[in-house]
This record gives sequence, structure tokens and C-alpha cells, in this order.
Amino acid sequence: MHLPTAASLLLSALPLAVATPTPGHGHKEKGLNTYAKEAGLKYFGAATDSPGFRERAGYEAQYPKYDQIMWKSDEFGQTTPTNGQKWLFTEPQQGVFNYTEGNIVTSLAKKHGKYLRCHALVWHSQLAPWVEAKTDWTKDELRAVIVNHVTRVAKAWKGQCYAWDVVNEALEEDGSYRKSVFYNVLGEEYIKLAFATAAKVDPKAKLYYNDYNLEWPHAKTEGTQRIVKMLQKAKIRIDGVGLQAHLIAEQAPTLDQHIDAIKGFTKLGVEVALTELDIRLQVPANATNLAQQKEAYKNAVGACVQVKGCIGVTIWDFYDPFSWVPYVFPGEGAPLLWFEDWSKHPAYYGVQEALKNGTKKGKPGKWW
Ligand code: XIL
Repeated sequence: MHLPTAASLLLSALPLAVATPTPGHGHKEKGLNTYAKEAGLKYFGAATDSPGFRERAGYEAQYPKYDQIMWKSDEFGQTTPTNGQKWLFTEPQQGVFNYTEGNIVTSLAKKHGKYLRCHALVWHSQLAPWVEAKTDWTKDELRAVIVNHVTRVAKAWKGQCYAWDVVNEALEEDGSYRKSVFYNVLGEEYIKLAFATAAKVDPKAKLYYNDYNLEWPHAKTEGTQRIVKMLQKAKIRIDGVGLQAHLIAEQAPTLDQHIDAIKGFTKLGVEVALTELDIRLQVPANATNLAQQKEAYKNAVGACVQVKGCIGVTIWDFYDPFSWVPYVFPGEGAPLLWFEDWSKHPAYYGVQEALKNGTKKGKPGKWW
């Protein structure tokens, strides 16, 4: 159903003046990042993994097409390495640092002039096993581990990151702290330590707290506001909150919920970005759930455009076969904007509409 029809192929081969500008074959459409900038955002971006680690193996034949859209088109003005900067890769053994994996994507970002979001310094998941293997860390020992990790990794990419996700997913759904090794030993002090250390090492990078299920107001968004205020009170720099936005097509937040959630953070004086947007559906995709997905994307991106202080949107890869979703949520998939056969989701046009229809009143970064 996603293969181009004979009619569409014929249309796309016709000269401009004759062709009907149907979605997907309009010749004058610009890429999403171009529309995003026109709407006052800094970027519309897509996260990507280094080729050796992409989720679905055996897709090497698709790489040229992928690279064309990822790096050489004006669809994306920003990227985030989906894995290579995580603790598991950067400090696999205590004191042994390795930036090879992370550098694959970050150097491509530099080469192609894309904004880079760096991800993630302190996180309970994809953590090197040695951190959790030791069960009798003293406070001083674990403080030193965090300071050393944040210092070395932030230094490795110093000056290259528009933003760093300094702490990722520190909260439970009820707004209480997740009982990670960091929290169990140090309490909320570990969050202060991570931000204070990152601020010292990379004064130019915006420092973000990043989490999922922050796209509608509830206990977890309140917990996140508590973290922002805690850091502000301690005079430790925090510049932004990242809303991962791993959403579900059939039960996504409304436009107003998105707006309220975002404003709950911007009113504290920090910026907001949607950092890992994807909107999964029950596979197989059909006309109904694809329409829901389109609406859901439109609302998420539209809210960011409408709220001053929401500076950009990143989707968590753009090509369905490279999404993490089917591996983590059985029975769900097709969460991105390009299908396996390279046709675009209806949601692509939902994003496009949201970007074309909305414009920020002020330029991002000016008002707060
Ligand atoms: C995911 C990656 O996309 C996968 O390749 C990996 O196997 C697991 O992690 N929240 C985050 C991201 O902050 O780092 C996660 O990325 C998705 C959920």
C-alpha cells in the first residue's frame, strides 16, 4: 500500500506546470527544517545511530537514500546520537574512556553543519555494568565517579553541543525519584553534582534535564518542575527541559495538554525542546491509526511552535526500520515519518502543516 502508484509515478514525471501538487509529489515543498526556521524554531531534527548500530540489520542497501535525507536535504537541521555518547559506550570500564562510537555521529553533524544535541551524561539505563555491579559505593566514591564521567565526556565534545542531556529519566511516573544507583547512594544531590560539573566543563552547552511522559501536565511534570527549581535555588545552571515525547497515536495528548505542559516549564525561565519524538501505533498501520498519528504529530509540533521558549523538535530517527520501538513495544511500530519503502507517512504532512501554519511571535531565545 505504500508503494508509489503508477499514477503518482506518472505525475512526478510530468513537468511542473502540469503536475498536480499532491502531497509527496509537490515540487515546490521545502524540507521540514526550513519550515521550522521560518516558524521561529531553531531546528527540526532527527536523531541517528552510527551505521554499525542501526536497529534493523541488513538494510545497508538503503544507506545512500537514508544519508541523502539525513544529511544532504533540508529536512533536518539538527541531530542527536541515539546511543554512542551513553555511559555504556563512553566509559565501559571505570576510568577507561572511549569516544569512537559517539564521534561517528557527532563528526557527521559537524561536517554537514547540523546542530548537535548531546545525549546523555547520567542515566540509569545503558549504564556500564561496573557502576551497578558494585553495591557498596560510599558517597564520596560515587561522587568522584560522577564528576569524573561528566568531566571527561563533556570535555570530549566541548564546544560542539548545542545542548547536553545532563540527567536523563530521574523520575518515576508519580513524580518521585527513580531508585537508580545514583539516587540510592546520593539522593537528589547527584543531580546537582551532574549539572554543576557539566556547567564548569562546557559553559556554552545548554544543560537539559530530559525525560519521557512530560507532554501533558501530571505528577511527573510537577516532579520535573521541582528539579528545575531545586537547581535554580542552589544557583546551579539548568537551561532546558527535554520532553522526549515517545507517544502513542491512539492516545496522544491534545494540543492544549502539550501547550500547558510546555508552559509549565517555560514559566520557570528554562527553554523546552521535544527531544525524542516518535508516535507509535498498533501494527499493521491502517488508514485510521495513520490519521490519528498525523493528528498527534501535528499537535506535538504545533504546540512547540506556538509556545515561546520551545526551541526545537527532534524525532528519534526518521526511517521506520531504524526505530527502537518494535524492539521495546511488541505489536507496535511505524512511529516515524518515512515508511520502510521510503514513502512518507501522512504524519509527515501533519508536521509540515504545523510548521507552516504557526509562527512564533518573538525569535526563540530572546524573550526569557
Ligand atoms: C534508545 C535507542 O534508540 C535504542 O537504540 C537503544 O537500544 C535503547 O535506547 N529514552 C532515551 C533514549 O533517552 O536514549 C532511548 O534510546 C529511548 C528512550
